[in-house]
Amino acid sequence: MPSASTLQELFLSHLQDIYHGEKQILKALPKMAKSATTPELKLAFEKHHDQTEGQVERLQRIFGLMNKSARGKTCEAIEGLVEEGKEVMTEAQSGEVMDAGLIAAAQAVEHYEIARYGTLRSWAEQLGMKEAAKLLGQTLSEEKQTDELLNKIAMSSVNRKAA
Ligand SMILES: [Fe+2]
Ligand SMILES: [Fe+2]
Repeated sequence: MPSASTLQELFLSHLQDIYHGEKQILKALPKMAKSATTPELKLAFEKHHDQTEGQVERLQRIFGLMNKSARGKTCEAIEGLVEEGKEVMTEAQSGEVMDAGLIAAAQAVEHYEIARYGTLRSWAEQLGMKEAAKLLGQTLSEEKQTDELLNKIAMSSVNRKAA
């Protein structure tokens, strides 16, 4: 974890971390959409790719509000999770394993994002950065909705199997 002496510095450093992370995710999602075998999962990844573009823009606006240039800082956690997704894509021997593995990797990313955006939003509130808190809250809802959608897709394929 980066060293920071003030909450504002800590906020900025985490913002740079998630900014880099979102850019990694932006590159990974089209590959995941291409590899997914069920149409609803493909669609979910495509939709979240578009959402992620908006999330990157929100982060850029927050950097702007702080009079800082938008700069990323290597986010090792996201890199590891994206790597996990890549392994699924090269190793899966069937469509079923591919989709299950992709959902698992994607949910791990969403859970990381939910944790980070939740923290960032509450820090923004503590720092009196109302506009930033609002923007972070919007992204947080999108990450939660994506996680729920992935849950639903996972459950419906389980149900299809059982039928
Ligand atoms: Fe995101
Ligand atoms: Fe996400």
